[in-house]
Amino acid sequence: MDRIRIEGGRALKGTIRVGGAKNAALPLMAASLLTDETLALANVPRAGDIATMAGLLGELGVRIDGDAGAGPDCGSLRLGAGALTATTAPYDLVRKMRASVLVLGPLLARHGHARVSLPGGCAIGTRPVDLHLEALAQLGAEIELDEGYIEARAPNGLKGAHVVFPVATVGGTENLLMAAVLAKGETVLANAAREPEVSDLARCLCAMGALIDGIGTDTLRIQGADRLHGARHAVIADRIETASYAVAAAITGGELAIEGAALEHIEAVADVLAKAGVRVTASEGGIAVAGGDNRLRGVDVMTEPFPGFPTDMQAQIMALMALADGASMITETIFENRFMHVPELNRMGANINVHGASAIVRGVPGLSGAQVMATDLRASFSLVLAGLAAEGETVVNRVYHLDRGYERLEEKLTGCGAVIERIRD
Ligand code: UD1
Repeated sequence: MDRIRIEGGRALKGTIRVGGAKNAALPLMAASLLTDETLALANVPRAGDIATMAGLLGELGVRIDGDAGAGPDCGSLRLGAGALTATTAPYDLVRKMRASVLVLGPLLARHGHARVSLPGGCAIGTRPVDLHLEALAQLGAEIELDEGYIEARAPNGLKGAHVVFPVATVGGTENLLMAAVLAKGETVLANAAREPEVSDLARCLCAMGALIDGIGTDTLRIQGADRLHGARHAVIADRIETASYAVAAAITGGELAIEGAALEHIEAVADVLAKAGVRVTASEGGIAVAGGDNRLRGVDVMTEPFPGFPTDMQAQIMALMALADGASMITETIFENRFMHVPELNRMGANINVHGASAIVRGVPGLSGAQVMATDLRASFSLVLAGLAAEGETVVNRVYHLDRGYERLEEKLTGCGAVIERIRD
């Protein structure tokens, strides 16, 4: 298993180009199942999860051409679901990546049948899909659970309905959007997730001929269509990658220009950074982040659905707060078990205590390099951040977590003066 070795203590300076959003690209790829024409996606990141989704769609009979997977920049993909050969998403693929469940809505809507393995638990909590299933049932789907699989049927097609999500769910909203665009009549999705990735999917569905009102709000109104057609769509920039590199500039006291980034998608993070003493400004074609020479101040943070502070940035901001003056309380409200990075950060000298859903971070003057273990995608990046700021050498084990979502991480950081390399085993 590959490892990443970092020599810490260098301020990052330079320019990083942010890639396409993995979490937008995954549902967009699944949306190709909704039409027999070609869906052409640009700005697709070369991340492990994208390859996993491509593998799953390939199993279903989707023809995929493209260059995502080779070369230095974000790639393009052409997906053609003209002749599907299967409607089953097998356990091995769903287990690897929970977002595989996003094929459920489109398969059911266009083919009247889907068999998708239940995702099961994952490192950051139980993460059930009950809300996806209850909402699909309201559209008339017959759903049974059978030997670890979701067996969903809509022999006479889906019918529009008024769905109120009891809690906002990103994947649930995306699955329902993809089901509703081919349902008969009108569907209203209330308390829908407003994440930019949901809006990106909605815009692509509109380009494919869907009629969706309320994009960007918590109420989506969809008029079902008989069929959708092919389209071309460019994936939005990755706001989590953007914010992760913004924290890299802050934690090393450096200055980074992040090209392609959209400030309006990271406002909650920019706000916390500003309160801590970091300058984040919009610039031509992206954002500029300046950490400065002074010690940062501790800031309280609570994760919330968009436009609140993203749970996918909780681990990274904790690494920053570990080195700030004073204490900060970081509260996780989205997932119940998302503090696995805490013991690893403490091994590097941080002073963090977890009490239920909150972590109290007491800032320390410095961190020291250590051998640490990545536990999930975003937690892994928090260890890279700690390693960039720490004195001495840090080795992050289990790098495959990072590869699921950050493309060319070492190259991007090395280009800005970091000393970081991959050790291949
Ligand atoms: C997506 C993102 C993930 C991010 C998360 C929250 C992708 C591929 N992944 O995950 O990176 O951390 O949004 O912003 O886009 N829940 C239920 N029942 C359900 C569905 C969700 O109880 O049927 C709960 C979850 O356990 C969680 C909360 O709702 O506590 C929000 O989860 P959700 O928004 O669905 O996250 P994902 O779509 O899985």
